[in-house]
Amino acid sequence: MAELDSSPVVLITGASSGLGLAMSCEFKKRGFRVVAICRKAPEFPPDLHISADLTESASFELVLEKLKSFCNGRLDVLVNNAGIGAYETWESLGDAELRTLFELNFFAPVKLVKSLLPLLKASRGSIINVSSIAGHMPVPCMGAYCASKAAVSMFSDTLRMELMASGIAVLNVTPGRIDTGFSKRSFGTRKVPSKFGGYASPACFASAVFNAYSKKKRSLIYPRWYFIAPLFARLFRPFYEAANLREWKLR
Ligand SMILES: NC(=O)c1ccc[n+]([C@@H]2O[C@H](COP(=O)([O-])OP(=O)(O)OC[C@H]3O[C@@H](n4cnc5c(N)ncnc54)[C@H](OP(=O)(O)O)[C@@H]3O)[C@@H](O)[C@H]2O)c1
Repeated sequence: MAELDSSPVVLITGASSGLGLAMSCEFKKRGFRVVAICRKAPEFPPDLHISADLTESASFELVLEKLKSFCNGRLDVLVNNAGIGAYETWESLGDAELRTLFELNFFAPVKLVKSLLPLLKASRGSIINVSSIAGHMPVPCMGAYCASKAAVSMFSDTLRMELMASGIAVLNVTPGRIDTGFSKRSFGTRKVPSKFGGYASPACFASAVFNAYSKKKRSLIYPRWYFIAPLFARLFRPFYEAANLREWKLR
């Protein structure tokens, strides 16, 4: 029976595909009860699926209510992973798409943290926010996505200091390109340059995240070599800009 189960509880948003699905499998393998938030039913059956659209404000009350009845409100880890991309110039990106992107990528993690903080304080738990390497470097035709992920990283890095005294750890995860089909599910009409192809597997990503979480690390860049990308973009800006103009067919 769920109430008698003493195993830790992880709540993962966007668990129906890609990185969220891989992290659900990893946490399950490590003995966690997995609560999944996503609209579609995940292929890998979680211990509890909360079907909710995180761009709608009613969803946040529902999550709290369902968590309380599932495990008396026990929550050890919150993984803010659900996200959407937009491959479009600022000029062409529609207002509705821009708002949905920010609701899902930035406001939903903030709202979830705010509503679940009492549960995380009680467990002295952890928050894992999935940002992106694109939040640390300017990519044309991905400006809105870059801005939303830069906001996520800042959210993580400021929140961590604010919560230190309450014993809650905050891990900011910065993935590079990982094979999930993410770009096909994104907004926008721009074709992603083929040089941006997938390099890493979601399963390896999930195991690196679990490892960073268990060591209470502040930050994880995955794959590791991606740390060089923002540095390169900053140090060699004219070259970086010219290459991007060419790749995105902006001239
Ligand atoms: N893959 C990459 O190369 C990469 C690189 C850097 C960062 N990231 C970040 O990693 C995270 C996961 O990406 P992914 O590659 O795994 O993408 P994905 O396979 O497209 O997964 C996105 C997940 O978000 C959920 N979702 C989308 N809209 C939602 C909504 N309105 N309400 C609730 N859930 C919603 C989807 O579930 P439903 O459709 O069932 O709701 C799905 O489970 C994202 O934050 C992304 O920005 C990915």
